[in-house]
Amino acid sequence: MGMGMRVRSGMLKAGGLVLLVAGWAVGAGAQRAQAGAASGAATPHHAVATRPTAAATPRRAAAVPMVAATPPMGWNSWNYFAGKVTDKDIRDTADLLVSSGMRDAGYVYVNIDDTWEGARDANGKIQSNEKFPDMKALADYVHSKGLKLGIYSSPGAKTCARFEGSLGHEEQDAATYAEWGIDYLKYDLCSYSGVMRAQFPNDPAAQNKMMREAYEKMHQAIVKTGRPMVYSLCQYGWDSVWEWGPQVGANLWRTTGDISANFDRMSLIGRGQAGLAKYAAPGHWNDPDMLEVGNGRLTLDENRTHMTLWAMLAAPLIAGNNLTEMKPEIAAILMNKEAIAIDQDALGRQGDRVFADGPVEIWAKPLKNGGKALAIFNFGETASEMRGIGLHLKEAGLPAHVTARDVWAAKDLGRIGDDYKVTVPRHGVVLLVVR
Ligand code: GAL
Repeated sequence: MGMGMRVRSGMLKAGGLVLLVAGWAVGAGAQRAQAGAASGAATPHHAVATRPTAAATPRRAAAVPMVAATPPMGWNSWNYFAGKVTDKDIRDTADLLVSSGMRDAGYVYVNIDDTWEGARDANGKIQSNEKFPDMKALADYVHSKGLKLGIYSSPGAKTCARFEGSLGHEEQDAATYAEWGIDYLKYDLCSYSGVMRAQFPNDPAAQNKMMREAYEKMHQAIVKTGRPMVYSLCQYGWDSVWEWGPQVGANLWRTTGDISANFDRMSLIGRGQAGLAKYAAPGHWNDPDMLEVGNGRLTLDENRTHMTLWAMLAAPLIAGNNLTEMKPEIAAILMNKEAIAIDQDALGRQGDRVFADGPVEIWAKPLKNGGKALAIFNFGETASEMRGIGLHLKEAGLPAHVTARDVWAAKDLGRIGDDYKVTVPRHGVVLLVVR
């Protein structure tokens, strides 16, 4: 939808905000131990801790509940169902999240993306359309399964699929979401970029200021409801959102334009996250977009690469496949406990690239137990013999020899060093946990 217009802004600008964020992230991590139940069912992966808002003093901050202490996990309707999603699809998905074991693996948010919106009533209150006859009843159903419900809107008058947006109704919409029992809001810029341009035709800085204010406005509206909701920004990474996302209450922010279910697009997005690690911490995450695992024609190796890359990035794991036809090998990828544990590691540190040689890239992610996840990717077209390339343990900040486990092979490797030989298949990955 209008993707041609979505240009990604520069990625690596440093900001004073980072230090501020890092400062309180440590406290937030420590407080994760006090996790309690959020609305709906609590899971170990989505503990509620406390955190300061960016603007708050430390004392006031301690009382603000934190969602997304670890990267949110769940499912979203867009990547597979797009504009066709119905109430029944959401109920079926909720059932299947439970019966497949995905809920218990951590996938607790069931997120309705664009096209649920109906007209506003005489009082301006948003209604769901005929595809969603009773949103409150749907929320009750999803909650009864120990899951949480997410919804979608835009700061513009229209969403990207040209349904009703929240412009001029922000508080009212947030209150309606709270009344329905919504736990997660994805707020997609869409037509608001036109409002920004119309207001300040030749002034990108003023347009960006308007954008931040629009996101802050909905943040305040959510806070006013008193209901904890994960706040997910979707504005394609414009204006280096990672530098100011936490200031407008974002728990996650899209860093790119839309993903699609093909290897080139997925890997381009994933690899493009290099350098953003310092912006992620408990409560706020870089979001390289929702998973396409199990969609399109991605091969098993490509699906494993996708899951691995997202886990290394501490990315939100929001599945986007049709669970009614999920194959066992796809379920095994989405529910690989060790890959999920890397993503959800309590330290909350995003991984980064430590070595690249053409299509071979090695990424490392620090883990709470002092170890590291080490992913050796082969983005190239032929199987890569690692002999001669080495594991590059030094670049990953590791000693010459480490104790390693191969996650996808589910195999302990014992002590290994740089001379460890491994063949990484075309478009594939070897994922190690070392210490
Ligand atoms: C796009 C967004 C997608 C999806 C779509 C719905 O802007 O990036 O993830 O939400 O809008 O119309």
